[in-house]
Amino acid sequence: MITDIRTPVIEAPPIDAGSDAVLLHYITTKDPREAESLFAAARKVRERYYGVDVYFRGLIEFTNYCKNDCYYCGIRRSNTRAERYRLSLQEILECCRMGDRLGFRTFVLQGGEDPWFTDERITEMVEAVRLEFPDHAITLSIGERSRKSYERFFRAGANRYLLRHETACGEHYRKLHPREMSLGERKQCLRDLKDIGYQVGAGFMVGTPFQTPENLLEDLRFIRELEPHMVGIGPFIPQQDTPFRDFPPGGLELTLRMLALTRLILPRVLIPATTALGTISPAGRERGLLAGANVVMPNLSPREVRKLYALYDNKICTGDEAAECRRCMEGRIRLFGFIPNMTRGDVAGWQSSGTP
Ligand code: 5AD
Ligand code: FES
Repeated sequence: MITDIRTPVIEAPPIDAGSDAVLLHYITTKDPREAESLFAAARKVRERYYGVDVYFRGLIEFTNYCKNDCYYCGIRRSNTRAERYRLSLQEILECCRMGDRLGFRTFVLQGGEDPWFTDERITEMVEAVRLEFPDHAITLSIGERSRKSYERFFRAGANRYLLRHETACGEHYRKLHPREMSLGERKQCLRDLKDIGYQVGAGFMVGTPFQTPENLLEDLRFIRELEPHMVGIGPFIPQQDTPFRDFPPGGLELTLRMLALTRLILPRVLIPATTALGTISPAGRERGLLAGANVVMPNLSPREVRKLYALYDNKICTGDEAAECRRCMEGRIRLFGFIPNMTRGDVAGWQSSGTP
């Protein structure tokens, strides 16, 4: 029998995602049948709003300089072994053009917190991309800035902003970051971004050192309260030149369950099947889609710099040209019954505020 994702093998019983006890139960379950019915329920909810479409976004990692020192991250400032790079505006535009030729209508411009990219330079970049691609969605992912800066980028034409909260528990946050970073500020940034009118992506890592099931419950509660438009969830993966080098990676199954629970809590949310998920398991991203995710982000960065954006070890897709990456991803998802969607892919029900 050919299994179609639209007809789940296991009939999903209703799962009350509004109950913390139920959430905690699914966070901690060891029963694979329970996990399977959770995934089936999440798939069903996802299909109600998005069918079997998977939205493609082109990711451009334009700088790996970072002034922060997060203990888990390979591009932290203390990592003297990281070879640093910064793309010029022309190189960034070239990536966008390549992406556009490949059919992408969303560009995600991501980087470390690089002080060289002042508000002026970011604004100039956003304006340049907006001028050349008036109909594309521009997503920024460049960390914490002031509300004024976020407003400026929005006026320049940015539509979306990705800023993972990493963990919603203050005590846990302090174990992952040096003292100068605070969860309070991170949450304030997220609220500001939403308030300004961005489509906002929050998110967290699964299996970071010292994480407890209660921490993960806290992440879900935070998501429920913030109601972001996107949620990025990926397993923690150790990076050899960081203080967390000797910790084990986050588990595939737990990451999938967190993804599915997020789908049940926020039915219309956009959830990427992350590169980190594909890194810990060969069909990780496809399993993510089967557990409720509906976005993939093939890499458009120049091949020469791919390997240098090494947040964690053994990152996949670092050797492929943008075109190969896109084609490969399309083939893989089709194999699992999904259909690539190259439109902007705004969150279901999104009302544009009239700004570009
Ligand atoms: N393992 C997995 N994900 C990581 N990130 C950073 N370092 C790691 C790591 N070692 C994630 C963070 C960040 C995003 C861009 O990448 O969640 O927000
Ligand atoms: Fe760059 Fe954490 S090391 S944001």
